[in-house]
Amino acid sequence: METTQEKTETLTFAKRLKYSTRTNHDSVDSLVMNSEPFANEENYIKFLRLQHIFHLSVAPLYQNADLQALFPGLADLPRLSAVESDLNDLGLKADVDASLLATPTNLYQAIGWLYCSEGSNIGAAFLYKETQKLKFDAEHGARHLAAHPEGRAPHWRKFVAQLDALSLTEEQEAQAVKGAMDAFAFYKKTLSNLNS
Ligand code: HEM
Repeated sequence: METTQEKTETLTFAKRLKYSTRTNHDSVDSLVMNSEPFANEENYIKFLRLQHIFHLSVAPLYQNADLQALFPGLADLPRLSAVESDLNDLGLKADVDASLLATPTNLYQAIGWLYCSEGSNIGAAFLYKETQKLKFDAEHGARHLAAHPEGRAPHWRKFVAQLDALSLTEEQEAQAVKGAMDAFAFYKKTLSNLNS
């Protein structure tokens, strides 16, 4: 019978990232939904603050030359300025206490953080729909949840292909998985802090 180890070894790198972090993802997903981000504007503002802290933390990765070499087109992807415009649309300042941020310094862990950040845009299809209840959209208040101009799926497939083309060593992959787990844990911790 196939062992779990053999099973994960036959998966592509992107699938291994998904497989290794599925419980982390699902707990973040339920924590976000439990905070009822679309129930009213006050809750949505808390969610925007959370997204802002996350995207501010990962923003330097999109400007990193080593990562840009591994992921052509990376510099065009960050959603930080869209989150800041969303805050602006709601009459809020985009200021954050720097002590709340976390940016990985290890290149391979950073790949895992990028996976987490880019992947969050596919689940965002559902979140974007929910913002309509609050009358927000791609031009006002929910810009950062809008689909990439290429569309969510083609954009995600391109990123997945870039992940799978990396050919990392076992140790580098392990660092990337750690990075993805850390990114989910950071999101979760930030969410709990903002809602406490
Ligand atoms: C209520 C909140 C969320 C919901 C409902 C949600 C939902 C989803 C859904 C439906 C998918 C597609 C799964 C698939 O195709 O198999 C997905 C993928 C993903 N989401 Fe979320 N998500 C949420 C929050 C987040 C957050 C906050 C992050 C990151 C901080 C995140 C990171 C990811 C990643 C990395 C993937 C890609 C999984 C893969 O490798 O295919 N999600 N999400």
